Amino acid sequence: MNKRSLGSQGLVVSVEGLGCMGMSQSYGPADEQESLATIDRAIELGIDFFDTAEVYGPYKNEELLGRALRGRRDRVIIATKFGWKIEDGKMTGVDSSRIREAVEGSLRRLATDHIDLLYQHRVDPKRPIEEVVNTMSDLVREGKVRFLGLSEAGEQTIRHAHAVHPITALQSEYSLWERNLEPAIIPLLRELGIGLVPFSPLGRGFLAGSAKRAEEYPEGDFRRGDPRFQGENFDANVRAASIVRDIAASRNATPAQIALAWLLHKGDDIVPIPGTKRCKYLEENVAAASITLSADEMKRLDESLRPEAISGPRYNERAMGWVDR
Ligand SMILES: NC(=O)c1ccc[n+]([C@@H]2O[C@H](COP(=O)([O-])OP(=O)(O)OC[C@H]3O[C@@H](n4cnc5c(N)ncnc54)[C@H](OP(=O)(O)O)[C@@H]3O)[C@@H](O)[C@H]2O)c1
Repeated sequence: MNKRSLGSQGLVVSVEGLGCMGMSQSYGPADEQESLATIDRAIELGIDFFDTAEVYGPYKNEELLGRALRGRRDRVIIATKFGWKIEDGKMTGVDSSRIREAVEGSLRRLATDHIDLLYQHRVDPKRPIEEVVNTMSDLVREGKVRFLGLSEAGEQTIRHAHAVHPITALQSEYSLWERNLEPAIIPLLRELGIGLVPFSPLGRGFLAGSAKRAEEYPEGDFRRGDPRFQGENFDANVRAASIVRDIAASRNATPAQIALAWLLHKGDDIVPIPGTKRCKYLEENVAAASITLSADEMKRLDESLRPEAISGPRYNERAMGWVDR
């Protein structure tokens, strides 16, 4: 698999990473054997960029990745995140007051002495970003962390953070059906030389064509509470996404592959991290990196899924309150 530079500090990763969150939460029951096999297969296929977080599980996802990568640590780039308050095994709000403690825990669970890319998972309104990045940059000086990132940070936060220590990547939601980064954030990232790691690049499965209505997912599945999967929003979004299925059919590809190819064509500073716990989906997603879309196909996708064509916000009100804008 080809490589891309992320940011301007020398981090080089495979053009696609692997999002590991779904192996421990959000999208149905965990299957440890299949998850471990998926991570093995990802490495075989040339993926070297693995995405996890303290809060996934909580803790279980880092432990899983630590086990999966045993003996192969030097071949991969590990990205993890801190920044949530975790109480009784539940995420209860944003909290960047205990960065060192969180990082020590991540290092232990990942069975490593360094994290390649450390993100603040959400901006903490109670803690100035300068203070947060100062602590993060101390960890770089101490050799515990190599590169720094932010997630769902707004323009001012990105500028202030980058002035304290170079930010290598922003990880935020970006896909065919979620384009909020296009007007201001992506131009800012390009101005500052910061890479973009789009999360939920398959729209949590919606763009892959395998989505069901919110109420058809079991209790505990994230999509039950995602407004875009509910009621009339779901119907409108299925209609808007028909273009992805049409182009996929005409190219003998799958909708997931077209959604990923679209992202990869948006700039060589973009490295999506599609999430899956299955070898079958992983192989399909890796093959997307070989698809070339024409200018006409890009235009049809851009226009058919423009923001006005999508119904419903990407988070409920509480979760939207944690997004820094
Ligand atoms: N920074 C943040 O706040 C944040 C938030 C969300 C996610 N993330 C990161 O981003 C990663 C990716 O996002 P995501 O997992 O939320 O969403 P995603 O990649 O858009 O979609 C994942 C869903 O799509 C399904 N899927 C994957 N490939 C498929 C294919 N080829 N055909 C059909 N279905 C397919 C998966 O199914 P299976 O589960 O059955 O494999 C899963 O249900 C996460 O793993 C996580 O590491 C970060």
